[in-house]
Amino acid sequence: MRIAIGADHAGVRLKDHLRTFVEGLGHEADDLGTEGTDSVDYPDFAHRVASAVAAGKATLGLLVCGTGQGMAMAANRHSGVRAAVCRDSYEARMARAHNDANVLCIGARVVGEGVAEELCRIFTETEFEGGRHQRRVDKIAGV
Ligand code: RB5
Repeated sequence: MRIAIGADHAGVRLKDHLRTFVEGLGHEADDLGTEGTDSVDYPDFAHRVASAVAAGKATLGLLVCGTGQGMAMAANRHSGVRAAVCRDSYEARMARAHNDANVLCIGARVVGEGVAEELCRIFTETEFEGGRHQRRVDKIAGV
């Protein structure tokens, strides 16, 4: 699948690592920046990735900042985007299976490389369960 990825200066090193990782899983990564460690504003990259997902140019998004929180707040302003901050495998699995999350947000200052790889693997492999969860996801957009 095609995955749009982005990060700020706090997440750029992990983002670069995860780009290679998801490509190794057989996905196509569309890296929307940042590049380098100069200080940047995380919403700029969250909006790039969220726009790509909302427009159907990417199936899933991956955003990395210090905590993942600011990226999720910005990405979730986009209609059709459900961004989830995940720190462990259970959260990553449930965010896909129950919430149909389409953007994974990771905190580079919170989780290590190994956990981050596992989050990406689980997020990309887990299917949305639909059924009663579809009704609930529909209600997210219905407010
Ligand atoms: C940058 O220092 C930090 O605030 C940012 O990466 C992120 O954690 C915001 O949510």
